[in-house]
Amino acid sequence: MAEKKAPPRTKIRTNGRTCKGWGLLAVCEVFAYLYNPNHIKTLPMARKKIAVLTGAGVSAESGISTFRDNDGLWENFDPYEVASIDGWLKDPGKMLTFYNHMRTHVRDAKPNAAHKAIADMEKDYDVHVITQNVDNLHERAGSTKVLHLHGEVTKVRPERGVYDRTYSEAEVFDIGYSEVNLGDKAPNGEQLRPHIVWFGEAVPNIEKAADIVSAADVLLIVGTSLSVYPAAGLYRYAGNDTPIFIIDPKDLPVADRRIHHIKEVATKGMEEFLLCLETL
Ligand code: OAD
Repeated sequence: MAEKKAPPRTKIRTNGRTCKGWGLLAVCEVFAYLYNPNHIKTLPMARKKIAVLTGAGVSAESGISTFRDNDGLWENFDPYEVASIDGWLKDPGKMLTFYNHMRTHVRDAKPNAAHKAIADMEKDYDVHVITQNVDNLHERAGSTKVLHLHGEVTKVRPERGVYDRTYSEAEVFDIGYSEVNLGDKAPNGEQLRPHIVWFGEAVPNIEKAADIVSAADVLLIVGTSLSVYPAAGLYRYAGNDTPIFIIDPKDLPVADRRIHHIKEVATKGMEEFLLCLETL
């Protein structure tokens, strides 16, 4: 997708004459136009598009564990037992318990200053959040355009939906922070399962995410080890001249001339990013 450019500014035309003599009239007309509130509403506003790709690190300061850091979730749980489609087929009860616990952690967590700073950018920019996180902290911080790549822990769907091995959006519903147990059925009579993309499953929102990244004027990546594909490859869809900022306290396995690494935790890194953004 081609990068969207700001529409050209309207030129004042004076039937081929130069502005001498017409200058004052033209200036008055411009001011009259600008100060008419109806016209202000219709002025073309070229708001920069910012795509924000987040991972577990953005929620770390809210007390939600990351996956691959020291004492991260995958140090204490085998991902193939609790986060893969094979694990579900082997022991769905164990998986349901794991996500019931995760739901209570999400309920008790609060958005941190990084989630809020990302949401606040909507005042000045056209911001699209693409998150690998299954929590709802971006939404609770006020972000209005959030695309979840790996699902949402507060939602469920039938184990086998209309497409058998995948689902239709109409079958997904919100359960908030309630538990789901073996024997809890969807309206179609199937066992309910968490609305999570597990290892071994397709990532239905990846194309939408790629479109968002390719249309962005700036790409910001916060708190992801960039080790799980296809999400980890999304930054490659950014335009050749699109600045890419990464906020993460650790070194990351990417070497791309477009990338500026802010080596900080998310809350502090967002402060630095906002200063950089003003200079773009
Ligand atoms: P990881 O645990 O792989 O990576 C977390 C990243 O956050 C690391 O690079 C950390 O350095 C960084 N980090 C830690 N604390 C931070 C902080 N306070 N501020 C900013 N960054 C911080 O998590 P993800 O990359 O999100 O998928 O993992 C991707 C996917 O792997 C997850 O969505 C999940 C997991 O398996 C599924 O379960 C399907």
